[in-house]
Amino acid sequence: MNEPEQYTLPGLALSAKSARTREQPISFLIAEALRNPRLINLAAGLVDPLTLPVAECDAIAQRLFADPARGRAALQYDTTVGLAPLRQALLAHIEQLEGVSARQMGLTENDLVVTTGSQQALYLIGDVLIDPGDIVIAANPSYFVYAGALSSLGAQVLTVPMDTDGMVVDEVEHLLARLERDGRLDRVKLVYCTSYFQNPTGLTLSAARRPQLLDIVRRFSKRHRIMLLEDAAYRELRYDGPAHRSIKSYDALNRFTVISHTFSKPFAPGLKLGYSAMPPDLLNAVLQQKGNHDFGSANLTQHIALESLRDGSYHRHVGVLERSYRAKRDAMLEALDRHMPQDGTISWTRPGGGLYVWLALPAGFDTSRGSAFFQQAVSRGVLYVPGAYCFQPDERGAIPTNHIRLSFGQVAPDQIEPGIERLAGVVREQLNTQNSASGTQHFRSPAEALG
Ligand SMILES: Cc1ncc(COP(=O)(O)O)c(C=O)c1O
Repeated sequence: MNEPEQYTLPGLALSAKSARTREQPISFLIAEALRNPRLINLAAGLVDPLTLPVAECDAIAQRLFADPARGRAALQYDTTVGLAPLRQALLAHIEQLEGVSARQMGLTENDLVVTTGSQQALYLIGDVLIDPGDIVIAANPSYFVYAGALSSLGAQVLTVPMDTDGMVVDEVEHLLARLERDGRLDRVKLVYCTSYFQNPTGLTLSAARRPQLLDIVRRFSKRHRIMLLEDAAYRELRYDGPAHRSIKSYDALNRFTVISHTFSKPFAPGLKLGYSAMPPDLLNAVLQQKGNHDFGSANLTQHIALESLRDGSYHRHVGVLERSYRAKRDAMLEALDRHMPQDGTISWTRPGGGLYVWLALPAGFDTSRGSAFFQQAVSRGVLYVPGAYCFQPDERGAIPTNHIRLSFGQVAPDQIEPGIERLAGVVREQLNTQNSASGTQHFRSPAEALG
């Protein structure tokens, strides 16, 4: 059909949710890396391409398709909740990680759902719990992709600080008490905590704080149950330090906590599979929404994941990753020790696992996307994630801008030191020119900081 001349195409009537949804910063960072392939990419939270389990998946796929009945099953739809033998194998895997039996955690395989990445589980849990204006409590800083999803759902994300023991759970208690006094406890739906090697700081919730956080959530669950969402995406990438039990493992009746795991970090993100254990009433609501999304995650990758657990290749691969990332983590920390100015105003975390180091620069620094610092880093050939993306605005609506998330995940081992050296060069230059802006903390509005 021809359009009449002088026809003006009307705009789309996008939903309120769509209008609330901003572009994820990850898209801009990927575009920047693609535009300039010579950049040393310390931004990407991706796993190391050199360690992906190609031979293992090749052997599994050959086995799967050599058996026509199994091949047909793998190429057919399965259930919304996920392949039953995979959920059984995952429950056994969880028991092994926890050192606690499924019965002691009040779990059977029917409390597990397999999702399209753990991101889908995080999203669906938000979707079934949150109406616009409801409150989610999270650490500041936190995993920025989930913060974006929560904002798109209309959640108000209130934050508590982090220290070297992870999320400061006493502050969760104070915040909940304040919300109760203000008559807003009814709006609190979720507490979100990345309990192992957090993205972006690499920090882990201490052993003592785990049952404590559960107890706080339980005590403030008065008219409804507040859910504690434990994101354990990096749990199995552990290089040193203790293997903590999860918060979930203390919730003996499976009532207050969800734990989400993924195959993306310890095995292969291309499978795009996650799995979560949660209370039955929440699972029921999640399954109904998952039915709307995809009525079941990719069955072929579920069969591959199952075989990797059965034939031992999953566990062997986690061992390979541990060794490879430990060496890269050490290379990054050594490079920081060697190249960053050691004047007491710059600090960074020393993570026992995961993929990230969190760098805090002097208070006057501005590392945000539109800053001279960021431009300098890119022109010197190094890319990082501006820390501002990982913070929620404080009560004045401001975001600190003096942090950087560094990842040793995707970068080639021999590029780590040159990358840090380049970054340290930019830091030194800024220290010289601004003499750290007389030490006052630099804040920006979200529009300026995230721009
Ligand atoms: C803390 C955290 N949680 C969840 C995810 C989601 O990963 P996936 O959907 O691939 O499981 C990520 C990915 O980077 C992450 O960093």
